[in-house]
Amino acid sequence: MAHVSDLIATDIDAYLKQHERKSLLRFITCGSVDDGKSTLIGRLLYDSKMIFEDQLAALEADSKKMGTQGQNIDFALLVDGLAAEREQGITIDVAYRFFSTDQRKFIVADTPGHEQYTRNMITGASTADLAIILIDARRGVLTQTKRHSFLVSLIGIKQVVLAINKMDLVNYSKDVFDRILGDYTSFAAQLDIEKIVPIPISALAGDNITEASGNTPWYRGPTLMHHLETVEVAQRTLEAPFRLPVQWVNRPNLDFRGFSGVIAGGTVHPGDLVKIMPSGRSSRVARVLIDGDLPYATAGQSITLTLEDEVDCSRGDVICGAEEPAEVSDQFETTIVWMSDQAMLPGRPYLLKIATKTVSASVTALKHKVNVNTLEQVPGRELELNEIGVCNISLDQPVAFDAYEQNRDTGGFILIDRLSNETVGAGLIHFALRRAQNIHWQALDLTPAARASQKGQKAVVLWFTGLSGAGKSTIANLVEKRLFALGRHSYMLDGDNVRHGLNRDLGFTDTDRVENIRRVAEVSKLMADAGLIVLVSFISPFRSERQLAREMLPEGAFLEVFIDTPLAEAEKRDPKGLYKKARRGEIKHFTGIDSPYEAPEDPELHIDTTALSSEAAAEAIVAKLQERGVLLGSVR
Ligand code: ADX
Repeated sequence: MAHVSDLIATDIDAYLKQHERKSLLRFITCGSVDDGKSTLIGRLLYDSKMIFEDQLAALEADSKKMGTQGQNIDFALLVDGLAAEREQGITIDVAYRFFSTDQRKFIVADTPGHEQYTRNMITGASTADLAIILIDARRGVLTQTKRHSFLVSLIGIKQVVLAINKMDLVNYSKDVFDRILGDYTSFAAQLDIEKIVPIPISALAGDNITEASGNTPWYRGPTLMHHLETVEVAQRTLEAPFRLPVQWVNRPNLDFRGFSGVIAGGTVHPGDLVKIMPSGRSSRVARVLIDGDLPYATAGQSITLTLEDEVDCSRGDVICGAEEPAEVSDQFETTIVWMSDQAMLPGRPYLLKIATKTVSASVTALKHKVNVNTLEQVPGRELELNEIGVCNISLDQPVAFDAYEQNRDTGGFILIDRLSNETVGAGLIHFALRRAQNIHWQALDLTPAARASQKGQKAVVLWFTGLSGAGKSTIANLVEKRLFALGRHSYMLDGDNVRHGLNRDLGFTDTDRVENIRRVAEVSKLMADAGLIVLVSFISPFRSERQLAREMLPEGAFLEVFIDTPLAEAEKRDPKGLYKKARRGEIKHFTGIDSPYEAPEDPELHIDTTALSSEAAAEAIVAKLQERGVLLGSVR
């Protein structure tokens, strides 16, 4: 079973061939520092002889030096490669390790067990077919066991090995084993796990790892290694309907146009009827290529397809088996795992990447959070790092998708921060929201441009941003009076005023400010559609949401006006006496005091109010409108 094949020395090609044909099992180990996880993985590597001689020598030396296991080998040292981990005695990132036996190849994702590392566990689990949940026999089912199991089932792993470890420390007691198994099974009944295989082990002593242990005569099941070697994992992706998310269009010359990517589900043959989603156009597969032509290709392979017709198909589209094409929608119910220090705020725009497609998306409703320790639903307004929530999301365009249950690749997505480009969340699609399917665009004959030109102008949004007391409303007010005198049509949306009506329900938390600006961006877009020059005067402290407002409008129709007044100056003016109150602690989350203001990086207009009077600022803004051709005809 464990092996270092003689073939390596005698016939390396034959060895590699043999290796290629072996099936691969990807699994994840879940447990905490104390459960003996690293020891278990070290033991599996050791017993499969995947440790090289020099590593072994170092391991023996290190084991003696660290002195955690007396004169014996400390297998955990093999796995806990990072110096920091060694010193603190914890594992802090996802590590993938490869080993193989005569029967099978294995990739094990080793992830930390602490609560704050949920995101690592999700990352490690996302490609796994099986999970080993480790339990310390002395301690039984703990909160973290429940958390790990929930995450494992969330990510869609159906096979669990319940490795009840440290049996040597409970005298190999069948009673202890049975009690833990009972506890676990009754908890796991609420989870979507198909098969639980309990195995009593001692990773340290080697019981039931590769050989049936004489210490547990009452146990008749497989050893851990035997189970890993023989367990059948459902070939879900192979049996799924055909999906090829197009990564790139391969067009080396005019005679060849191929669509390349990794098959995310099913099998494809030349001659198969396909549909390209989301457009729904049909065609037939002409050729299936890897190095040369193939009779077929299946899930997991990187291929290039050519089609019989010159159909439109580009990066991000999904080529699907025509009989069961992917669905298409732009609104979904999802589960999202948050992975960033910056909380997820409903309404904030993020990039969403699903398969090979990237679109803009925001959470429209956080329906509830899930307490990962108890599985209880808890209400919440935002998702913090490592929190999980059921969320409705809305995309700026329809995408092809499957439910995550059906296909992890076309049903899972990540969320990316638009400014930092970091992955901030991972999600899985439950289903499309039906309301999205029943609402269509009503065609209107009058265009926004026609409405604006009737008013002798181009529609624009002048977006004033700056601290409270910076002078936004004062200057905007002067601009509007000037436009009125010039016979133009305008409307002013002012933070304080809108908060008396439309946004009366909102306060000043980050979440509320995002929603405040999202609504005002929508309203200003409608007003610009109506042909108006819209003056928006809101602190609007976050770049993300100002960017959102900009992107809702046609190119050139959004002018960001930064009313730049240093905090000290705004505080000195303090027209409403609010800074004083904030300093006294009577107002929480006050911008500039205990809530951030993100200054524009590249505004169309930057007004320094310490150098320019309000009147002069207003003149400069009107001049900018003229320069931009916003005021049609002669300006009186
Ligand atoms: S925003 O940040 O959400 O864009 P908005 O412009 O609507 O703010 O409202 C800001 C106005 O609300 C300020 O000019 C001030 O008069 C008042 N206000 C009350 N509490 C606060 C606070 N905590 N932070 C900032 N402004 C506040």
